[in-house]
Amino acid sequence: MADDLKRAAASKALELVQDGMLVGLGTGSTARFFTEGLGQMVAGGLKVRGVPTSRATAELAASLGIPIVTELIGQIDLAVDGADEVDPALNLIKGLGGALFREKLVAAAAKRFVVVVDESKMVEQLGRGVLPVEVLPFLWRLTAERLTALGVSLVLRGGEETPYVTDNGNVILDLTVEGGVKDPDAFGIEIKKVLGVVEHGLFVDMTDTVIIAGADGPRAIGRTSAAP
Ligand code: A5P
Repeated sequence: MADDLKRAAASKALELVQDGMLVGLGTGSTARFFTEGLGQMVAGGLKVRGVPTSRATAELAASLGIPIVTELIGQIDLAVDGADEVDPALNLIKGLGGALFREKLVAAAAKRFVVVVDESKMVEQLGRGVLPVEVLPFLWRLTAERLTALGVSLVLRGGEETPYVTDNGNVILDLTVEGGVKDPDAFGIEIKKVLGVVEHGLFVDMTDTVIIAGADGPRAIGRTSAAP
């Protein structure tokens, strides 16, 4: 069922793709449906290029025959990605899949950033689950201590024996914010000030459109009124 909803959201986003576009390709199970659909369109003759947000997505896109771009001059026409949480202001938490840094770079470079989710991802306040923060492995415990001073608890993803390593060679600290993230913009700025932090999973004021798939089908909300 969840897969059906994810596929429905991704299919709706595919309606936005036009010939000649440079398309940001997200990471995660929902974005995967989008990339797979795009691959089918390319096989049918559509001419697009993709900017992948992770090695996994790059490999998937290449296997589907989608031409890949990793150096960018100018803007991406359309970026489509999943999210772990979406709040009523369309701010996001991303990074459970570990690709948050490249995902943020791609979203920031896009003329239109479209988020595809099933309705379980919609929250009243961000912070229901963990907030991933990518940090430099060097002296990471000190970075963790500095983050803890912000009033959060945290764990090293994967544990100390087998830490999860991002595509950028960094590690991820998963933060639990007691009471949720009350001011995502201010909290993101505080996290970013911490020495050792590479990037965090709060995406504030970046989303143009969210396509939410529920039992009644996909619907779009956002600041960009163009279809879907
Ligand atoms: C990847 O780093 C994440 O930001 C994903 O985009 C996010 O976790 C959503 O993934 P799913 O679509 O698999 O839930």
